[in-house]
Amino acid sequence: MTITKVGVLGCGLMGSGIAQSAATAGFLTVARDVAEPLLERGRTGIVKSLTKLTEKGKLTAAAKETALAKLSFGTDLSGLGDCDIIIEAVTEDLEIKNRLWQELDQLCGPATIFASNTSSLTIAAMAAATNRADRFVGLHFFNPVPLMPLVEVVRTVTTSPETFQRAFDFARALGKEPVAALDSPGFIVNLLLVPYLLDAARALEHGVASTSDLDRAMQLGCGHPMGPLALLDFIGLDTVVKIADIMFDAYREPRYAPPPLLRRMVVAGFFGRKSGMGFYDYSVDPPVPTGLGLKREQ
Ligand code: 3HC
Repeated sequence: MTITKVGVLGCGLMGSGIAQSAATAGFLTVARDVAEPLLERGRTGIVKSLTKLTEKGKLTAAAKETALAKLSFGTDLSGLGDCDIIIEAVTEDLEIKNRLWQELDQLCGPATIFASNTSSLTIAAMAAATNRADRFVGLHFFNPVPLMPLVEVVRTVTTSPETFQRAFDFARALGKEPVAALDSPGFIVNLLLVPYLLDAARALEHGVASTSDLDRAMQLGCGHPMGPLALLDFIGLDTVVKIADIMFDAYREPRYAPPPLLRRMVVAGFFGRKSGMGFYDYSVDPPVPTGLGLKREQ
């Protein structure tokens, strides 16, 4: 069965990026969130991103208008009843997600695929809450969604081969590069990325190098677009700590244990770019390293 209509749950940074990618790829796309101001913020972000892509010559003005015409926004779940695939990108809370899945399970036809963009929860725990565990997958996108080509297509124990293939083909139809992963904490990218990010925070904590030098080292020595501490700020320190805690709980390996410095920063409200303060202070342009009470000069 072909996919023509896509539902996206959650209009935050990830949800709006996914909705934008789906609409740009030509799918009729319905974005849903709990309140109008959240939808408005998502819509503004999409327009801004499409405008930027148009200015940079990556998208024609006509393609931008076509994408916007494919998009609709609403607070009601009923608009998602006839979607061929629903991608969920709401807050990382299993109860909230499962309440939505159970409601949608009643609303949607039997062919609708359910896909979660979770980065840390188990796909099996969501699939089991529905009557369509065989039509449940993970579709894990990366931030910023419109620019990052990768999608991890995650197969859990109950996912049918047909559903997996449809989801894989759908990710490709979005213009993304899909890779297959098992429903194991961290999938592929976070399994490898999270310990690296935690090690960078540990290196700073232990005085190996300054914030700028740690970041510059990985940018210039390994060709990474961002250093690890800037990337921690970009993803959000609270998000990384949450993912790391879940992975530590699953694997019981010290490499997944968030270092004390990271926990102290989260407690202090240093979430990174979104709070304006993290390893860098974003109140100035360009951002400058924060002191963090460490002895070493930053
Ligand atoms: N839409 C359209 N344009 C965008 C955009 C968006 N959403 N976000 C950024 N851009 C634009 C910028 O405005 C900028 O435009 P300009 O050149 O006209 O100023 C352009 O893209 C390039 O951005 P920057 O100049 O700021 O810097 P970069 O060249 O470094 O590119 C980046 C930015 C693509 C974010 C790059 O730094 C990068 O690839 N960083 C790594 C990101 C990464 O690792 N993401 C994965 C995080 S892990 C994750 O998401 C998984 C989760 O589970 C934790």
